[in-house]
Formats: sequence, C-alpha cells, structure tokens
Amino acid sequence: MTAVLFIHGFPFDHLMWRHQLAALTRWRCIAPDLPGAGTSRGSKSADEFSMGSYADDLIARLDGLQVGPAVVCGLSMGGYIVFEFLRRFPERVPAAILLNTKAAADTPEAKRGRDALAAAAQHRGVQAVADELLPKVLARATLERQPAVVPEVTEMILRQPVTGIVGALRALRDRPDSTPLLGRIRVPVLVVAGDDDQIAPAAGMEEMARAIPGAQFVLIPESGHLSPLERPAAVNATLNAFLGQL
Ligand code: MLT
Repeated sequence: MTAVLFIHGFPFDHLMWRHQLAALTRWRCIAPDLPGAGTSRGSKSADEFSMGSYADDLIARLDGLQVGPAVVCGLSMGGYIVFEFLRRFPERVPAAILLNTKAAADTPEAKRGRDALAAAAQHRGVQAVADELLPKVLARATLERQPAVVPEVTEMILRQPVTGIVGALRALRDRPDSTPLLGRIRVPVLVVAGDDDQIAPAAGMEEMARAIPGAQFVLIPESGHLSPLERPAAVNATLNAFLGQL
C-alpha cells in the first residue's frame, strides 16, 4: 500500500488533514504533528527549529514506522518541508504534492513580519497569532457559506504552544529559496492552489508548477489557504486522482 505523509502548515496541526485522513482509505496515510505543534511538545527551544530539523524529525518517524518511500504532501509550510525532503532525502520521495505553498524565500519585509509576530506571540500569547492570521487564511466563500470552519480553524490556532509558534516563525524566516530546485525535480508532482488564497496566490502557484518538469496543476474554486478544510471533497478527489496514477 502506498504511504502518503501529510505535513501540516503553520500555525496548525495534523487535524487540518482530518477530511483527507477519513476519505483516502486506499492509501497508508501518515499525518504527524510537527515538533512544537499540536500534541507534539518535544524539548526543543525556539532557536532549534528549521525546515531541515522538521524534515529530519519526519524521516525519523517514517523510519520508526518502517516506511521507506512515501509520497510527501505538504500545505504551505508543509510544502517548504517537502522541498527539504526533495533536497535531502530524494530516494525516499517517489512523488510529491504541494498545496497552497510557494518556492521563494521570505523577502526582508516578510522576515521582519515574522519577528514582529514572534514578539507579539511572546508578549500577548497565541491569540495575537490568531488575530493576525485568521483574516487571511479562509476564502470569502468559506466565510459566507461555511461559518463552522471559522471556529474550527480558530481553535486549532489557539491550541498551539507559543514555543512551537516562535520556533516555526524562525524556521519560516530563515528557510532557503527553493526556486532553484524546481527545474531539477524528477518525480511526479501535483500542485494544488486555492483560487482565493491570500497567502500563496494561485498565479504564483501556477508559475511554480510550470517550473517543475511535468507537474500537474489543479485550481480549487472558492478556496482560500486551507483548501483541505474548506473544500475537502474537491481536494480529496484531486489527491485520489493523482495518487491513483502513480
Ligand atoms: C502556512 O500556512 O504554513 C503559512 O502560511 C506559511 C507562511 O506563512 O509562509
């Protein structure tokens, strides 16, 4: 049975994949919480987080489960970690799925924003992070027609520990530019964008897909940054179709 490793985004946990875990029963789905997120506390200080350390942690978990190759499927920060997998452990990645993510590193302005948000989290707690991000992560259509998604996402953000949030913000700030990697990817890749994603706009994702040899691009309508929760049926159908071709 093909294994699929689901890597969540920031500041979320594995439950952002709950619809996929329930529906994609033809595959061996593995969806851990990253260190410092959800129920995974660990003993790391905020300075020890990086995209590389997240990837190392996930490889150790796959090893622990005796899973060799796994399709890696990451959303946003999870996508940055997929790039790290492709750089560091290419032999473990038979195919990759990139949702709502981007290849470029942070601009100087974005890096300053990461530090400001980390400082706000340290002073005011995780509510400061929810206040900053909630207006950006959901599509207008979701806010209008699926109001129950709002408390689900709010609660998911509010249960994240501050140390993990600050560590993730440093990892996000310092992540490498993955643009040079794109043209060198030699495995099947699916790129999935939300048409109303303010954080990883669809146009940039389509450009990214064009830079990856043979990549497939799918646009999810009426979706923001959290398409697996906002449009689960469309995302599940897209993932099932891609995985079924492998
Ligand atoms: C995420 O969802 O993981 C974040 O939006 C990533 C980012 O802020 O770059």
